[in-house]
Amino acid sequence: MSIAEEVRTSFEVRPVHGDFVGEIVDDGVLRRTDDAIAAEVVAAMDRYAVCVFHNRTPLSDAEHIAFSRRLGTLQRPFTTKIAAMADKRIQFPEIIDVGNLDARGEIQALDDRKRAFNRGNQLWHTDTSFTPVRGVYSLLSAHEVPPCDADTEFADMRAAYDALPDAMKARIEDLETMHSVWYSRVLAGYPDPTAEELQSQPPARHRLVQVHPGSRRKHLYLASHCSEIVGWPVEEGRALLRELMALATPSQFVHRHQWRVGDIVIWDNRCTMHRGVPFDDTSYRRDMRRTTVLEGTA
Ligand SMILES: [Fe+2]
Repeated sequence: MSIAEEVRTSFEVRPVHGDFVGEIVDDGVLRRTDDAIAAEVVAAMDRYAVCVFHNRTPLSDAEHIAFSRRLGTLQRPFTTKIAAMADKRIQFPEIIDVGNLDARGEIQALDDRKRAFNRGNQLWHTDTSFTPVRGVYSLLSAHEVPPCDADTEFADMRAAYDALPDAMKARIEDLETMHSVWYSRVLAGYPDPTAEELQSQPPARHRLVQVHPGSRRKHLYLASHCSEIVGWPVEEGRALLRELMALATPSQFVHRHQWRVGDIVIWDNRCTMHRGVPFDDTSYRRDMRRTTVLEGTA
């Protein structure tokens, strides 16, 4: 039996990176409104942690939100609370604008605070690990892509866990970590967060090793937001986190997705990491729109 046949879906899922990434070439799967579709997508996501849906044209924001809602409650971006970011290009509160365009639809100015904020997306991370209720699925839709490579890389945290030496698995089994969005922003060069920003999003605590509820596979739960190990001296904890990040991201665990307009990639933030590959974002437009489904709301 092939990997694809093991997932019972009415659409074909082609494996493009072992059991990590599946590709769906049927146009319109995410526009379906029948009752079965959400469960089928979840089944595919439990098998593959990343699914690439090739749509001939981008879903509208309303279609994007409507499908996402079938998977659970959507995150409302906390950044809209910040005055400097209140001027939004996209008026749907569920759409998180992760391209490089400003409210007028022009390439962001060099000193745009949102540009500095989004630079953190180039570090390995999971979306919304810095809240007690985490992000589960992210659905990222490509509306406009540059002519140069502006890819996204994904790392399989199930395979990474499986490959750890037994001694490391035993060492980390019961550890907990703190996740702070401001830690990763400062790592990526964001200016010192304001008191209002810090207050808008305090850190959250999560287990380092988790069991995926759909696949029952163990996986690491890491991210650039992961700032320390609970109960450990800060620097000692960060050294172990850096070691685990390196062990989790060799090339055999990483898939690089080259975007086409219309693509929607869904990934499971619980058992993957991802990062944007740097490109000349002062010259080329990139319009990417994300929704994120919150944990425990399906
Ligand atoms: Fe992200």
